Amino acid sequence: MALFCNFSIFPKPFVPSCSSQKTQFSNQNTKQDSIFRIKGPAALSGHITISGSKNSSLALLAATLCCSGSSLLHNVPNISDIQAMASILSFLGAKVESFDGKMMVNSDGVDKVEVDSEEMKKIRGGFFVIGPLLARFGEVVVALPGGCDIGKRPVDLHLRGLRALGSVVELRQVQDGKVWAHAANGKGLVGGRFRLDYPSVGATATLMMAASMADGITVLSNVAKVMIGGIPTDEPEVVDIAHFLNHSGALIEGAGTGTLVIWGKSQLYGSECVIRPDRIEVGTFMIAAAITRSCISMSPAIPSSVSCLIDKLSEAGCKISQLDQHTLRVSAVPAYVGDDLRGFGIKTSPFPGFPTDLQPQIMALLTTCTGSSLVEESVFDNRMTHARELQKLGARIQVSKSSAIVFGKDEGSSLCGSPVIARDLRGGASLILAGLAAKGTTEIHKIEHIERGYEKIDTKLQILGADIERSTPLPVLV
Ligand code: UD1
Repeated sequence: MALFCNFSIFPKPFVPSCSSQKTQFSNQNTKQDSIFRIKGPAALSGHITISGSKNSSLALLAATLCCSGSSLLHNVPNISDIQAMASILSFLGAKVESFDGKMMVNSDGVDKVEVDSEEMKKIRGGFFVIGPLLARFGEVVVALPGGCDIGKRPVDLHLRGLRALGSVVELRQVQDGKVWAHAANGKGLVGGRFRLDYPSVGATATLMMAASMADGITVLSNVAKVMIGGIPTDEPEVVDIAHFLNHSGALIEGAGTGTLVIWGKSQLYGSECVIRPDRIEVGTFMIAAAITRSCISMSPAIPSSVSCLIDKLSEAGCKISQLDQHTLRVSAVPAYVGDDLRGFGIKTSPFPGFPTDLQPQIMALLTTCTGSSLVEESVFDNRMTHARELQKLGARIQVSKSSAIVFGKDEGSSLCGSPVIARDLRGGASLILAGLAAKGTTEIHKIEHIERGYEKIDTKLQILGADIERSTPLPVLV
């Protein structure tokens, strides 16, 4: 962990000495209509570098709103969700600079409590700003968040938790159902007790940030965590937030245990941290090796954050080795592991269960394994739309509500290139993986969904030997 979260405190405004080119963020919209064209089947080999975690970065960018002075985040991925979050912070009045994979945020100039709705609707993580703004200014107005369309994604736990910290929360239906929250005492939040009905990652993040600046002590229970065999296991993104806030002057105890005790502070100070590697990107490339029956290595990776996937791929027959502390190698080369990978079942659940964000990619893999496999989605209630697109590529999949039976290559699945549509971020990634395994050309449309969460995925796959290109259709003149 120390390697990836190397925190230090900057009590005074931090001024980077780096002379590299900086990007100043503003809330401008960009429109993309490129497609990915993949010629398969691909044989991959070599090594790729994993980018920083999207979800940790989003939460930590919001957490910088709690801090006076500058915060410096290292290893922030250059993806559109992060750009959208940077735009939200800029809109509020924060100064956001990006250079060499780092982001520096100074929120001293924040002077708005109402977030731009258009930016807010682009990403789920934008909603994280509700906690810091409410705690700092005693009032906030935010639109309900966007993000992937993967089912009902209520924010009731965020709002009920904020009420437990002394705020009044109203849903304004005037325009698009905005949330208006203000401190009941007219000043700021006060410590309280709140038990989450479900260990929501997002609600845990919101309430940690809010409680860090509340007056008094807050106890949050059933937060995103899990015990394995009696040993507390950290929900990675939640622990990152706790570390960042603590290094910024907050006092949070119990990260990883299911109960957080937070002593609120009136002032937090900007600090510096290194974002951990994205475990979902690690998992996606591990599955890329498996689906193409190839051997690739990747770093930096934290093996314990993908232990569930390691178990499942090993069960299928892949050979997974840890080359050093932060390098994983996955081999599914037939000469070493045999001609076939065996199908296996998965059921998604909160960390350290099987990650819902890897369910679509696993579904693509299972179409190339032997036998039939059961995929159960228990976190989100409508996260199966990629099955329809995989079917266009020749997959045989039967979906029933939140479960799917995936028939393997000996039971009717046979992947063959075709035009398909990325309907959400991880579903789009599953189409790339299927396209790599399919015979012929796969064209993936709406790749802006994929680029929300994967940094240069086409370039990384090209480095590994894939025939994938981005192409932008010429504009039609009317
Ligand atoms: C985060 C991640 C997302 C990941 C998910 C689960 C970000 C930006 N996104 O999403 O990539 O797939 O964790 O690991 O970090 N729920 C409620 N009420 C609430 C909040 C959540 O009922 O107030 C429910 C949701 O509908 C869902 C479940 O809790 O069924 C899990 O959601 P949650 O852990 O909050 O996921 P997100 O934070 O939205």
